[in-house]
Amino acid sequence: MKGVILAGGLGTRLYPLTKITNKHLLPVYDRPMIYYPIQTLVNAGIEDIMVVTGGKKSGDFLSLLGNGKDFGLKHLNYTYQEGEGGIAEALGLAEHWAQGEPVAVVLGDNLIENNIVKAVADFRAAGKGAKIMLKEVADPERFGVAYMDGDRVEKIIEKPKNPESNLAVIGIYMYDGRVWDIIKTLKPSDRGELEITDVNNWYIQDGTMTAEVLQGWWTDAGTFDSLLSASKLVAQTGANKLD
Ligand code: G1P
Repeated sequence: MKGVILAGGLGTRLYPLTKITNKHLLPVYDRPMIYYPIQTLVNAGIEDIMVVTGGKKSGDFLSLLGNGKDFGLKHLNYTYQEGEGGIAEALGLAEHWAQGEPVAVVLGDNLIENNIVKAVADFRAAGKGAKIMLKEVADPERFGVAYMDGDRVEKIIEKPKNPESNLAVIGIYMYDGRVWDIIKTLKPSDRGELEITDVNNWYIQDGTMTAEVLQGWWTDAGTFDSLLSASKLVAQTGANKLD
């Protein structure tokens, strides 16, 4: 299983912090933001990793991360996303490298307290389909929101105005080798992006989507408030704990 970190985009919600650099290079407490999602994959035993970057200062990822020595890796792969075509478009850039293997995808601004070891093991055991991770939040309108029927996800709505569920779909996704063809069928959303929520709804329709509620805290770090809260959470409790 391979891992993909999505670290492109323009980070406009953090302007002017992102006026001259990429969001994922900004500090979250004692580390650059991108260290956390890379550690999430490495902790789950996924060491063949592609970083999709873009925008300003993309060359700084190479200076910062090199071959991944800080994570015990011998090599990292990089690719470049032009413009801001969305999460699903960014993921599509990893197709030639993934060579049909299943992938775990982590958004470069998503941090977790614990780990995804069990979710990855469950996904591998299933051998097919997709898995999303869910977390109860106070502000679901900021996220993709999962509507459940018992343990089954019925549908996901991207940033609903009046959410009827408080289960956010966090930025950690697992897909089988069909994901590349699914991405090619997507049409841009109202915000002009290829949405990862559309990929996830495809798997729901296919009947091969599973979901797990994440234990421990989760936060994104793409707004001023969430960036501050991410730093506080890491400072207070630490991140990427293995037990
Ligand atoms: C993206 C996804 C959304 C998900 C969120 C998690 O939102 O579109 O479904 O809940 O990441 O961080 P974005 O940050 O692109 O607005």
